[in-house]
Parts: sequence; C-alpha cells; structure tokens
Amino acid sequence: MDISVLIKDAATYLSGRMGDRKPDTGIILGSGLGDLADQIEDALVIPYSEIPGFPVSTAIGHKGNFIVGKLAGREVIAMQGRFHFYEGYDMSMVTLPVRVMSVIGVKNLFVSNAAGGMQDGFEVGDLMIITDHIGLTPNPLIGPNLDEFGPRFPDMTRPYDLQMTAQAEKAAAELGIEVKKGVYVALTGPSYETPAEYRFLKRIGGDAVGMSTVPEAIVARHCGMRVFGMSVITDVYREGSEENGTDEQEVIVAAQKASKKMIAIFMALLQN
Ligand code: HPA
Repeated sequence: MDISVLIKDAATYLSGRMGDRKPDTGIILGSGLGDLADQIEDALVIPYSEIPGFPVSTAIGHKGNFIVGKLAGREVIAMQGRFHFYEGYDMSMVTLPVRVMSVIGVKNLFVSNAAGGMQDGFEVGDLMIITDHIGLTPNPLIGPNLDEFGPRFPDMTRPYDLQMTAQAEKAAAELGIEVKKGVYVALTGPSYETPAEYRFLKRIGGDAVGMSTVPEAIVARHCGMRVFGMSVITDVYREGSEENGTDEQEVIVAAQKASKKMIAIFMALLQN
C-alpha cells in the first residue's frame, strides 16, 4: 500500500484511541529498556497488532506496544519495541511509527538503544548521549519524497538537539549519573561485528555501534522533530580480547541494569 495512506490510517486510528490525549514527546525504547513504560501513569496501551497496517516487532527484548500517558507530568507516547531493518522490514516500515507520531503532533523524540562500546574507556553499563551518527544502513528517505513531511534534501548538520543534550548533561550531573558522549554508528546487523569491523568503525569516528536509531533519527529530522538520543553500552570491544564474544542475552541484561539511569535522565529532560 501507498506509504502515505498507511501513515494516515495508522495516525487516524491512534488519534481515535487517544481521545483528548495530546502527547508532544515520543520515546523509542531500545532492547532491554522497556522498563520506562512501567513508570508511565494513567497508561493507555495500544498493541501494534491493533493498528491498521502496522508491522509487529519480532526482536528479542522488544514488546510491541505504544504506551500513551503521563511521565514527569508530561503527556508522552512511548514505543515499547521498535522495528529493525534486520527483521526484514523495509526502511519505510522501520520508520513508519516516527511519521505516525509526527502526524499526531509529536514534536520531540527521545531515542534509546543498546550498543556496543568502542570508545576507549567505555565500560558495560555506561550511558552515552548521542551527539552525532554515522549511518551505514540504507537511508530511509530513499524513494519519492513525502513532501508533506519535509524536503527532498534535509539538512543533517544538527541531527541531535544541542539544547536537549546540554539539559541532559546538566541533569545527569545533578543526579550524580556519569554520562559519556559520542558518535553512534548504525549497521544493519543482525550479525554482530567482526574484530576488523570494530577496528574500522572506531577508526572512522564511531564510539558505539548498533542496529537501530539512525533511520528513525533521519526521518524525525526530516519532519522537523527535535531528537535526543542515548545509548546504553551493553558490551565493549577491546582489541585482543575477541574470545569474549558478543551475546544477545548479555546485551539485554546489561541494558536492563543500566536502564534506571537512562530513565532518570529522560524524566529530568521531560521536566524542562
Ligand atoms: N554491535 C551491534 N549492535 C549491538 C551491539 C554490538 O556490539 N551491542 C548491542 N547492540
């Protein structure tokens, strides 16, 4: 089906379910980071499976719901579970929820993910504010431009909002939470990186690597949203220690452990 029609139908359905609720902030919860949804008050849970035309998330550690409600006194819409290119969806489906959120009035997008750490000094459980990204996945804007959302050639010199980044750093300092900053590199996955790929990604300027976020951030910027992103470092690559490997379950456990800190920072940002 025509993507514009899919977006419109899904947005119309969501608006109908939401009634008077008008969230201005969308939150995408990455692998193992779904706990934030439990803190949403007066929660309205809308399973993706009930939304016309919506894909169903198949990734481990991801549920498939929109959760609309109040967080830190603000109306938010959270995605418990996202869609990944490696699941076989094309990029217009991976980013469909972002456009749907835009149509229902969302102006700010918080994106989170679990990522492999490459920057020297990164440890499992660290939080990284995403200051920039390198997309090694297909661009989600390929194809006819959806002029009603944004321009054919959108500017990407300020992908992540500087004001929100500064606010998050300040909040983290006040809360006594250590945060790192860095560049997130997105690959398609689903295989994790080889040692040579990690070395390559580090050399081209990557600090953390994962399989999401970049397509969503591009589409969000295309339609004029402010984007704030955070990675939870769930495994670290160190040269010469390849025997440790990268394991899906370890990634999820590490993300769950660090999620409290990330949630605290998101909540502080919502209060601004
Ligand atoms: N690589 C890619 N994706 C990931 C990783 C990683 O090391 N950790 C969590 N998601």
